[in-house]
Amino acid sequence: MDLVDRVVLVTGGAGYIGAHAVKALEERGFQVVVLDSLVYGHREPIESHLKANLVVGEISDRAVLDKIFTTYKITAVMHFAAFAYVGESVSDPAKYWQNNVVGTLALLDAMRAHGVTNFIFSSTCATYGNPQYIPIDEQHPQHPINPYGAGKLAIERALQDYDPAYGLKSVIFRYFNAAGADPDGQFGEDHNPETHLIPLILQAAAGKRAAISVFGSDYDTPDGTCIRDYIHVTDLAQAHVLGLEYLLAHQVSQIFNLGNGNGFSVKEVIDTAKQVTGKQIAIEFCPRRAGDPATLIGSSEKARQVLGWKPEYADLSAIVTHAWKWHQQRHFG
Ligand SMILES: NC(=O)c1ccc[n+]([C@@H]2O[C@H](COP(=O)([O-])OP(=O)(O)OC[C@H]3O[C@@H](n4cnc5c(N)ncnc54)[C@H](O)[C@@H]3O)[C@@H](O)[C@H]2O)c1
Repeated sequence: MDLVDRVVLVTGGAGYIGAHAVKALEERGFQVVVLDSLVYGHREPIESHLKANLVVGEISDRAVLDKIFTTYKITAVMHFAAFAYVGESVSDPAKYWQNNVVGTLALLDAMRAHGVTNFIFSSTCATYGNPQYIPIDEQHPQHPINPYGAGKLAIERALQDYDPAYGLKSVIFRYFNAAGADPDGQFGEDHNPETHLIPLILQAAAGKRAAISVFGSDYDTPDGTCIRDYIHVTDLAQAHVLGLEYLLAHQVSQIFNLGNGNGFSVKEVIDTAKQVTGKQIAIEFCPRRAGDPATLIGSSEKARQVLGWKPEYADLSAIVTHAWKWHQQRHFG
């Protein structure tokens, strides 16, 4: 493929997972244009470490998209831009339907208008809802229990219709919990507000929060705390490059889970963080939260088989070590 054909538009590329994907794409020889409103993203890591051109704008702004699609020969769009706070999606669903669904449909309209037909979509294990069996594979029924998951599922359904009707080919990735940070220390998780377990635990280790709240210690799991599937963000990024190359080569729409396949309990994550940081971490036990299943573990066998994806950092201590390195660099220089 000619180099000029290898331009990828990455929406949300200044965010946590998006920035890691931009790095992986550039390492693989793709040219990248990032579109990010910077509502949650960060300009500085992109500008310091990547070659990508950053366009600050909204996915729903047709004028911005027209400009990008006419300036660059975009071969594919990798779409990370979204709001991703599950709790907020319950208290303010309009915000989520508007950005994650209406915004994404506007992006797809612009792609159609400009003849761009390759789309990689960040979906989520939240589209499955309460697990009916473990590990969850791609055939598991999808009954989301919050507006965030419902909106992501709505886009999955739209993509199923857009392929036969408009020839829009997609790879949909349903991620489990993205975690860790770039092993080179260039990028990491920096959400505000932060709701994800590992950064919250590391804040407690760094003395920036008094304790880590553990919601429920009487689940039907070996230590009573919830079990989740954590996937290293660099492995997630590599899967996106493989998914893109698959799509460009085969022109077949596909859906893949992306998880580690190993579940870790909240307590195991805290114990690993104590070992990695060498710090005490105080725990505050709280009642269970509504809608939290005991165990969520995904099967990523299909991604391994079809894409040849092999997670490099499946080990929890690597995930926590990289996150801690980033946390220290980011907050303590
Ligand atoms: N983090 C996870 O564990 C996880 C799990 C499953 C799915 N996902 C999905 O992965 C994607 C990336 O998640 P993340 O954790 O990197 O989130 P993030 O908030 O760090 O990144 C999202 C980026 O999108 C940008 N953005 C949001 N709305 C926009 C808009 N309308 N126009 C332009 N830019 C916009 C934000 O500024 C931010 O930089 C999201 O689609 C999320 O739903 C994340």
